[in-house]
Amino acid sequence: MKTITLKSNIQLCKPEELSEEEQTLIKKAIEATKTSYAKYSNFKVGAAVLLSDGNIVTGSNQENASFSMTMCAERNTIFAANAMYPDKGVVTLCIAAKNVNNVLLNKPISPCGACRQVILEEEERYKHPVKLLLYGTEGVYVINTIRDILPLAFIDDDMK
Ligand code: THU
Repeated sequence: MKTITLKSNIQLCKPEELSEEEQTLIKKAIEATKTSYAKYSNFKVGAAVLLSDGNIVTGSNQENASFSMTMCAERNTIFAANAMYPDKGVVTLCIAAKNVNNVLLNKPISPCGACRQVILEEEERYKHPVKLLLYGTEGVYVINTIRDILPLAFIDDDMK
């Protein structure tokens, strides 16, 4: 039997170590938490995406009394950006979240499995990586491609 070891590359940064554009994206993701509709969890997630032409689109989680209809901030934002600018892919995605006390989290959260799959599709569709900035008040996780946190991913090529 052979062991296959999968590695993840994640950097922990202070916002000031990031580019101006990336710092703007963080501010926009934090700001976007205010648009969250989190009636059931009270967990407010904001997202901001930078597109290949420099445009920024923001979004947030939107919940529903039928809980499974809830949509995460990441997917709402990516889908909105793709619908608005179908020719421009997401190059960077930033997320920030506030807890039930409306306080920004000190440790970053990372995209759920469903969002990771959607981010992977974004990379495949636009043929470039999506850089992730996962914001926490104590530091930002920087991940250069979703593949770093989605090992053994399923893509269209697997069906050929
Ligand atoms: N949520 C997101 O929007 N993004 C994540 O990465 C994790 C979870 C939302 C979904 C739901 O509205 C709330 O957070 C609690 O799960």
